[in-house]
Amino acid sequence: MSRVLLLNRRDGDVEASVCKVDESRLPEGDVLLDVWYSGLNYKDALAITGRGKIIRGAWPFVPGIDLAGKVRASDSEAYKPGDLVIGTGWGLGESHWGGYAEVQRVDAAKLLPLPKGMSLEKAMLTGTAGLTAMLAVMELEAHGVEAGKGEVLVTGASGGVGSFATGLLHEAGYRVAASTGSPDAHDWLGRLGAARIIEREALAAGAARPLDSGEWLGAVDVVGGKTLEALLSRLKRHGTAVACGLAGGHALHTTVFPFILRGVRLIGVDTNTCPVPMRRQAWERLTRWLTDDLAGHLLADTIGLDDLPSYSERLLSGEIRGRLLVDVRK
Ligand SMILES: NC(=O)c1ccc[n+]([C@@H]2O[C@H](COP(=O)([O-])OP(=O)(O)OC[C@H]3O[C@@H](n4cnc5c(N)ncnc54)[C@H](OP(=O)(O)O)[C@@H]3O)[C@@H](O)[C@H]2O)c1
Repeated sequence: MSRVLLLNRRDGDVEASVCKVDESRLPEGDVLLDVWYSGLNYKDALAITGRGKIIRGAWPFVPGIDLAGKVRASDSEAYKPGDLVIGTGWGLGESHWGGYAEVQRVDAAKLLPLPKGMSLEKAMLTGTAGLTAMLAVMELEAHGVEAGKGEVLVTGASGGVGSFATGLLHEAGYRVAASTGSPDAHDWLGRLGAARIIEREALAAGAARPLDSGEWLGAVDVVGGKTLEALLSRLKRHGTAVACGLAGGHALHTTVFPFILRGVRLIGVDTNTCPVPMRRQAWERLTRWLTDDLAGHLLADTIGLDDLPSYSERLLSGEIRGRLLVDVRK
């Protein structure tokens, strides 16, 4: 039997309950895993509360876009019993049952070996949110945003992706401006490495004019909408913005001026389908950069499967600072 968080649909609402399912009900896949840890991401919270159309598989459904654990049995040559593995994205917790299960069956193609030097716990403290932040930092570097050359803005800085981006950028030597709508997170963001705080409201109204005075050389944006519009108008010449999220809206109204008069670049990150070589590189760098000290600052709380519905509400209402680690066996 596998203890899982199971989502059911009833009269248009989503109901979440912790129950045991027989292993014969687990989905198809060539690797059977004992899942030790998962995480709670924005997307998971939308799935669990039913506030976003995340689930694309058949109901009932086990969510959780991240998982880490130990291989129990494998029909794949890539893994053998006892191997420690991580899985993020590739439809896990969206079209294929995900990480909120003590035992899960997954395709080997969705897994990576746990990098040397990384623990299962730290990997899931990182999860999709941390991986997204690392990929965003790699995109900034690839587009010429170098530490020491200019400040980098992080929006939604107190959330999972934003706090990881703040910590990782600081670790890499960048000067970070953290934009947040959470006054009680200011000191904490300072301890993560933010050199200054920008009030969320300063960007929330959108661009005052198509080109404003250039402030930042780079930006990691999880908010989207008017915030992204505003920061594009305030990037310095040849600056780069990495669009990661839509916590504040999915529409984007802008002009071509930042792109054609300042050479500004707007790059997207999709962690779900990120190619394997880039994923491996990101995990390898996370292993080096995510010090125990930084990990300790980034951990908001460790929760169990029973806690997921209430913590999903808290995450969506913006109460959580940092990352929620899910100890699946708790
Ligand atoms: N592209 C990808 O592959 C990828 C991967 C992971 C996540 N994402 C997306 O990235 C976004 C953030 O994910 P997350 O896991 O970091 O979520 P999260 O932990 O909930 O953080 C989002 C943060 O955005 C800010 N925020 C919330 N509502 C807002 C609003 N209405 N207007 C402006 N700011 C708002 C809050 O930060 P402050 O209080 O500090 O302002 C909040 O903590 C989501 O849209 C998610 O879907 C994308």
